Amino acid sequence: MSQDLIVVSNRLPAGDTPSGGLVVALDATLKREGGLWLGAAAEPEEYETDDLMSLPAEGYEKKAFRLNQQEYDRYYLGYANSVLWPLCHRRTDLLAIDRAFAETYVAVNRRIARHIAQAAGPDSLIWVQDYHFLPLAYELRKLGVQARIGFFLHIPFPSLSLLEALPEREIFHDWIAAFDLVGLQTRADVARCLELFRHHPRGEILLDGRVKHGDSVFSLRAFPIGIDTQGFADAAARSDGPSETRFGPGDTYLIGVDRLDYSKGLPNRFTAFGRYLDTREDKTKRPSFLQIAPPSRQEVPAYRETRLQLEAIAGRVNGENARLDWTPITYIHRAFRRADLPALYRMADVGLVTPLVDGMNLVAKEYVAAQDPDDPGVLILSRMAGAAEDMTEALLVNPFDIDEMAEAIATALNMPLAERRRRHAALLEVVRDSDVATWTERFMDCLRRA
Ligand code: ADP
Ligand code: F6P
Repeated sequence: MSQDLIVVSNRLPAGDTPSGGLVVALDATLKREGGLWLGAAAEPEEYETDDLMSLPAEGYEKKAFRLNQQEYDRYYLGYANSVLWPLCHRRTDLLAIDRAFAETYVAVNRRIARHIAQAAGPDSLIWVQDYHFLPLAYELRKLGVQARIGFFLHIPFPSLSLLEALPEREIFHDWIAAFDLVGLQTRADVARCLELFRHHPRGEILLDGRVKHGDSVFSLRAFPIGIDTQGFADAAARSDGPSETRFGPGDTYLIGVDRLDYSKGLPNRFTAFGRYLDTREDKTKRPSFLQIAPPSRQEVPAYRETRLQLEAIAGRVNGENARLDWTPITYIHRAFRRADLPALYRMADVGLVTPLVDGMNLVAKEYVAAQDPDDPGVLILSRMAGAAEDMTEALLVNPFDIDEMAEAIATALNMPLAERRRRHAALLEVVRDSDVATWTERFMDCLRRA
């Protein structure tokens, strides 16, 4: 029997209780509509047969495809995270171009396509998430699958000039064009995608806005992703936060929460906090900065390099400024309980979200949702985050400009209540508008009509 809805994402939620906005929204949609959610197994294993593994889920089927160590190294760490990730995050200096990465990436996608082809009927909707699966629709079409296939890219769409650095740049066009609907985070992403196809000899932008590439036609739209706004706000209001902490309601502190990734601009953020401490007028003011940075993709060398930089900067700033009763930077580089985040955001005077480039950045939205509307904190947001396209009432900063970020910290810490309330109300409206449940519905509606 064919599935009505098939969702594909590299990561499946761990255990049966999903956490994280996207995962919660997909889980709710699949529970409501039934279907299949396909993702990678949690750990690589030397498998003998390539059967899918069934995992527990209520109201739908959840299945994992297996990866052996070599596939994990070349598909996930290699092509996905050492080629596509740095390319889309404008770090061509970090590209690890390797034929074997590209071959394995395509081979894994081809294998997944065969599984999906068995589960899909002509009326199925197939929704593919993110850069791990760019060739999936192209491979499905080769197998004769006629169903509608949608794609959402969670990271920035690369510009024409960046794409020059990708050996697979030509077939990249065919991969994208094989989808019926391509969803991107921002209007700027859509503009970059249009430019790419407009410049291609086989590309054409049709009068109705759809994109034609050879014999394929696809719809293209921005769907800015959001969070479970009300759920997050409720969790923040309900919880007192972790019991033993120096980061409570009476403490003045700034908060940052990011996977330890070079795209998140952490070294510049640490340096800017140090600059703020050096230049603040009132030296009796002793705000702290709590940075939670759980480890991510540690096998990729660039991630280890960022970690070393952070340790050096945090050590220097703390060494130069700490007192017996004050440690300026608390830097946590370990797995962290997600349930403790909402209260920590709410009690923080400032949220620091300063990526060098980011598809959207959900932490910016979580920080706003978690605030007490009567006495909200201030969001400092990088202009380079997708979130900045609509969250214009944040204090927008250039994450490469250390002085500007240091000044923004001073402005945020001194901002009068009326201005904090006004900015927060406007930001909350934006966050509510892009709620992840609405996001899911909008995408699915468009895909049904594609
Ligand atoms: P990215 O997708 O690049 O990691 P985002 O800011 O868009 O960046 O999303 C990060 C998500 O991960 C947020 O929803 C955040 O709350 C969540 N998160 C942060 N820290 C943890 C943690 N320790 N455990 C689980 N989820 C976390
Ligand atoms: O938002 C981008 C993204 O790569 C997601 O696809 C992914 O789940 C998340 O960041 C964390 O990365 P990873 O799954 O590689 O740990």
